[in-house]
Formats: sequence, structure tokens, C-alpha cells
Amino acid sequence: MPDYIKFIEQIKRKTGIDLGLYKEAQMKRRLTSLYEKKGYASFEEFYRALDLDRDLLNEFLDRMTINVSEFYRNAKRWEVLQTKIFPKLLETKKTLKIWSAACSTGEEPYTIAMVLSQHIPLSRISILATDLDENAIQKAKVGIYPERSLAEVPEESKNKFFEQQGSFYKVNDAVKKTVTFRKHNLLKDTYESEFDLIVCRNVMIYFTEEAKNQIYTNFGQALRKDGILFVGSTEQIFSPNRYELETEDTFFYRKK
Ligand SMILES: C[S@@+](CC[C@H](N)C(=O)[O-])C[C@H]1O[C@@H](n2cnc3c(N)ncnc32)[C@H](O)[C@@H]1O
Repeated sequence: MPDYIKFIEQIKRKTGIDLGLYKEAQMKRRLTSLYEKKGYASFEEFYRALDLDRDLLNEFLDRMTINVSEFYRNAKRWEVLQTKIFPKLLETKKTLKIWSAACSTGEEPYTIAMVLSQHIPLSRISILATDLDENAIQKAKVGIYPERSLAEVPEESKNKFFEQQGSFYKVNDAVKKTVTFRKHNLLKDTYESEFDLIVCRNVMIYFTEEAKNQIYTNFGQALRKDGILFVGSTEQIFSPNRYELETEDTFFYRKK
């Protein structure tokens, strides 16, 4: 059996994560460069080592889950959320059920709270934020970020929602309280339902077509009628109809 295929099976057994659902060339390159750096010669040797070494397993998880994120990532899209999508969603409901899926270190769900607070008070906002990576979730809960993560944050929001600590910025408690973080694997775990808004950005690019199909189908079922799916800026859905979705705006889809 080829080295990588066996590795996929072993990792699945050990962690529940199915690497076979991530684009192969990309994932293999990332992991090969990690094991070579660590001095191993094959996936077989690498697995034997990480099976015994928790720190190495964590490094592997860190490498396979690319955590880069920032506040107001692709700022123009967040403007659309603020000026068009939220007002429409709030026409019929006073509180919204919101999910930031693959939230990484928290910049995305905290941005959702900041943007929505232009319409309703923070005390009425509740956001579920999930990721596969427990280390990322830990960082998200701490909520302290280097200045570069805030490059796109409007000055007014920076003053209102962050406390500066030296060269770092801490999300204030009122914003933090709006978000509940939880571990969730988009490829394996069950999805809640009746969401008004699902934000899932910059993770679909790593998955195979088969995996993407399954996740979009699940998102379609997890949204209530007229609920919105907000995707990343390179992640247009080409046949939204397949998932009972239709285009609301660029990178926003409405459940039919
Ligand atoms: C590049 S970050 C995107 C963060 C944020 N959504 C954004 O757009 O800035 C991708 C995230 O997807 C997470 N991820 C990868 N595979 C996942 C899976 N199967 N289920 C849930 N999250 C996953 C990674 O842990 C990582 O935090």
C-alpha cells in the first residue's frame, strides 16, 4: 500500500480526521516538508514517531489545519453583511442564530459580533464558533491578537471593541461574551439546524470536490428558509441550486 494512503488510514484511526478528504497534492506537500524538517524519511517513520509523541502529533495537527485569519478579512464583503444582509435578516427576527464554521483563532466570529452590533446590542448577540483545531480554539478564547491581525479593522471599532496591551490587542469582554467556542469537524460531526446565518470562509479551498459537496449539502440543510451562507472570497459556489441555495450577493447565498 502506498505510504501516504496507509498514513491516511492510521491518522483516521488515531484522530478521527480523514486526510483523504483534503486535496492530496497540497496536503502531501505540507506534511512531507514537516516530516523532512523533523528528520524522518517517510510517512511510515513519521507516523511511528507521532504515535508516541503528543507534541509531534500537535505539530502535525498544526501543520494540516492552516489557521491564518484576520479581523474583517476582505473588508468589502463585511460591508455587504452590515448594510444589506443583516438589515434583511433582522426584518423578521429580533435575534439571529449564527454559526462561524472553521473559525480558527476567533477573528471571524468576533468580527461578526462587531458588525452585528451596529444593528442590535451586543447583549442580544449569540454566535456559535467551531473549529477542528483545539489549539486554535484555545487562542480564540484568550482573544489577544498582534496588531497585524487588526489591519482591516475600522478605527472606530478598534477603539470600541479592543483594549491595547503593549503591541497586542485584546477583544473586550462584551464582545467575547457573544461567542461560544466548540470543537467541531465539518467532515464528520452532526450539524445543528435553523441557522439564520452560517459564515464559512477560507476552508473549502482545502477540501476535495466530494468533501465540498457534502459540506454544502449539510449547510443547505442547516439553514432555515431565507437563511444566508457567507463564503470566502475565492469560494463561489457554481451550482448553488444543488444545495437548495440561490445567490443573494457575491459570496452570499440564500436558502430557498
Ligand atoms: C484558513 S483558516 C480560516 C479561518 C477563518 N474562517 C477565516 O476565513 O479567516 C481554516 C480553518 O479551517 C479549520 N479546519 C480545517 N479542516 C476542518 C474541518 N474538517 N472541520 C472544521 N474546521 C476545519 C482549520 O483548523 C483552520 O482553523
